[in-house]
Amino acid sequence: MKRNSNWTLPAVILLGGAPLLGAAGPLAHDREPTLQTLPEGVTAAMVTTGKELFDGVGVCYTCHGPDGAGTGLAPSLADAVWLHSDGSYTALVKQIAEGVPQPKESMIPMLPKGGAPINDEQIAAIAAYVWSISHD
Ligand code: HEC
Repeated sequence: MKRNSNWTLPAVILLGGAPLLGAAGPLAHDREPTLQTLPEGVTAAMVTTGKELFDGVGVCYTCHGPDGAGTGLAPSLADAVWLHSDGSYTALVKQIAEGVPQPKESMIPMLPKGGAPINDEQIAAIAAYVWSISHD
């Protein structure tokens, strides 16, 4: 029942506590793009879902930090600097799916999907979120 997997996410995120409240409240990222600026195939709903996944079951935040701001383990995804691609939406989808077997600056590699149990639909949403925080 992969199709239903998305419906279980809000519960998981609610159990996680603050991130969801932060996303909905005044602390929400103020660089959310308007619908017109989103790449083809990307919706605002994907960006919202992607943030929840990034900070939740996607575990991206553990290395890239909350809001993708970067940590000592992995680089910021919230700026225009890309080590492995042109940072386009399509490239991000591919990058997240494949991971980074050979990091350029970090001490550790990134596993495919960051090692998280996420499906293609979830990868697309996370890529939409990463695109949104890195493109004004
Ligand atoms: C175990 C730590 C870890 C996790 C978890 C992780 N990453 Fe990474 N990520 C890295 C490292 C390390 C790199 C490569 C940095 C380098 O080349 O020096 C990287 C690179 C990337 C890049 C390419 C950045 C660039 O500059 O081109 C993207 C995009 C990315 N990660 C997204 C994600 C997303 C989305 C998730 C969650 C699904 C995720 N990562 C989970 C460690 C991680």
